[in-house]
Amino acid sequence: MKYNFDEIVNRRGTYSLKWDGGQLIKEIGLTERYDDETIPLFTADMDLPVPQPLIDALHKTVDHRIFGYSIFPDEYFAAIQHWFKSRHDWDIKKEEIIYSPGTVHALNIAVKAFTNPGDGIIIQRPVYPPFTAAIEANGRQVVNNQLRANSEGYYHIDFEDFEAKAKEEKTKMFILCNPHNPAGRVFTVEELRKLAAICADNGVLIVADEIHGDLIRRNQTFIPIAKAVNNVKQLITFTAINKTFNVAGLHCTNVIISDPELRKTFNREMGMHLPSPFTVSALIAVYTEGEDWLEQLKEYLDETMEWVVRFVVEKMPKVKVRIPEGTYIMWMDFSNFGLSPEEVHDRIYNKANVLLEDGKMFGEEGIDYQRICISSPRPIIKEAFERIAREFEDQI
Ligand SMILES: Cc1ncc(COP(=O)(O)O)c(C=O)c1O
Repeated sequence: MKYNFDEIVNRRGTYSLKWDGGQLIKEIGLTERYDDETIPLFTADMDLPVPQPLIDALHKTVDHRIFGYSIFPDEYFAAIQHWFKSRHDWDIKKEEIIYSPGTVHALNIAVKAFTNPGDGIIIQRPVYPPFTAAIEANGRQVVNNQLRANSEGYYHIDFEDFEAKAKEEKTKMFILCNPHNPAGRVFTVEELRKLAAICADNGVLIVADEIHGDLIRRNQTFIPIAKAVNNVKQLITFTAINKTFNVAGLHCTNVIISDPELRKTFNREMGMHLPSPFTVSALIAVYTEGEDWLEQLKEYLDETMEWVVRFVVEKMPKVKVRIPEGTYIMWMDFSNFGLSPEEVHDRIYNKANVLLEDGKMFGEEGIDYQRICISSPRPIIKEAFERIAREFEDQI
């Protein structure tokens, strides 16, 4: 079936965080302005319709008319195994799969289960803010192995720094984000092996958040770290249908842990979580019948990113932006304007009335950046960029 991702589906009045959550968003402090004209491109969900087989499966579930406690049938696990084998050549055993009602939830469980208050946890900033929150809210210490951008805005890992930090007595865990939000990197096998070897040598547990792993450019290959490194025991991987199939509201993350002892510890901290029948039917539908949609989506996202880069080069050449290897997130460097981050924020959020995320949320390394999720119909993205460009015309 052919999908029309240019179609604008009105999400207002659907309990959408992006389109109905103005009051909450202002309370959190993301913006001062939010009204009917705001274009919200901050949080990572898509304003694009989901695969038809998913809609059909959810309709079927609704038609049952009863939504009681549910179980995970064999088809649930088989669908996960099928997806990761066929797309990533990764063999996952049924018993290795643990359901979690969210990735951030699972991250907090992992921090509590495998580290103690005061322990150090490595993250690579600028990075998705809940990583920092999961560490600090649980009384652990952030150990920052800052990702370094070259003059082209391409990020790489400082391995010397990573090794020195992994060797510190207090360091017990490393939270890997791959593909990386917001830096956009899809790490190579060599990089993953090097990280894993340093962690193994120093008794550092790897928690790999790979939930953007299906959303990579068409010319890229994503390799799960479990696949890149054979027999790695000290590893926990988060996978999810949330980002890939635009179902964050269905809360479905699957944690993969091959080591039985780690699994026991994680499960003890987690407790039992039964799924919603919508979650079960959604996962089976997308992992068995969602591939065609995903390939079309990737093409659409790639083309939107190409449009963004062309537009920025022409209309805002001082902004540095590159097409990321993975995710639908673009990370824009505004430092060449020589304006303060507050001035840049004011022009985008208050004057252009486009709601993004200030780079400083991802760590102080992000202070001059703005993060945009381009996972909306292209007419919306074009309108947002045109509005932003108008506010910087005096700076060209
Ligand atoms: C890297 C990363 N991890 C986790 C999440 C949130 O996942 P969940 O909604 O399953 O908690 C996001 C959302 O943007 C993300 O980018």
